[in-house]
Amino acid sequence: IEAVVVQKKLLAWFDGVKEKRGMPWRKEVDPKTLSQKERTQRGYEVWVSEIMLQQTQVATVIPYWKKWMEKFPTVKALAKADIEEVNEVWKGLGYYSRAKRLLDGAKTVMEKHDGVLPETAEGLLDIDGIGPYSAGSISSIAFAQRSPMVDGNVTRVLSRLTAFHAPAAAKATTSYIWALADVLVPPQPKKKKASTEGGDSSTLEVGGLNKPGAWNQGLMELGATMCTPKNPNCAECPLNDECLAYAEARHVAHRPVANG
Ligand code: ADE
Repeated sequence: IEAVVVQKKLLAWFDGVKEKRGMPWRKEVDPKTLSQKERTQRGYEVWVSEIMLQQTQVATVIPYWKKWMEKFPTVKALAKADIEEVNEVWKGLGYYSRAKRLLDGAKTVMEKHDGVLPETAEGLLDIDGIGPYSAGSISSIAFAQRSPMVDGNVTRVLSRLTAFHAPAAAKATTSYIWALADVLVPPQPKKKKASTEGGDSSTLEVGGLNKPGAWNQGLMELGATMCTPKNPNCAECPLNDECLAYAEARHVAHRPVANG
């Protein structure tokens, strides 16, 4: 696969769809323009959304996310809550251990990090309840760090894209997909110099100010809406020309039947 082509096509496609599901945590903000306090706030918003989204669909998450943010507007406010209050707001979402992970994490941020959320995936892994997926999602979406985030959707999309046929749950598959996801995350664009050249908007501006975040969310969005487990919508997929599994399927379809 041609990484740059895949990146451009997915970012362009995601640019067109990202607001359609009304996700309030999907604001595109350049973290460099925010104060440290605002950055922690932005990270907290993404953190809560990603923990909720791990086992729950977007449409269900939206009202819960809003309610959570009203009840526990900041990391500091959350850290002061007790488990009963937290479970009360979580009621109906299921997998309650997720609420405890958020609470434990908020306490770690207050007690061990002076109330400041780390911004790299590596730093975030230090927080109780934050694993590789959450660390990758928070650092890329909130802080525009070039880190991968891999879940079931991303595993399926990248396996198909590269025609990698192996059990998704196998350890070797996991490390292959994380490594591939890692090399594919595009960097945050450099600040444009005040230029007189007119600029090349076709290559620079797709994905806006936060390409790592837009790219990772685009992959998830593609997996959720097009590259679905059953009956994927290959005909309308923005990556169909790049997809090796799609090419294989067409090749097989046109091959004369061997035994038959
Ligand atoms: N599922 C998990 N995280 C998501 C995100 N940021 N956007 C869309 N779907 C998701």
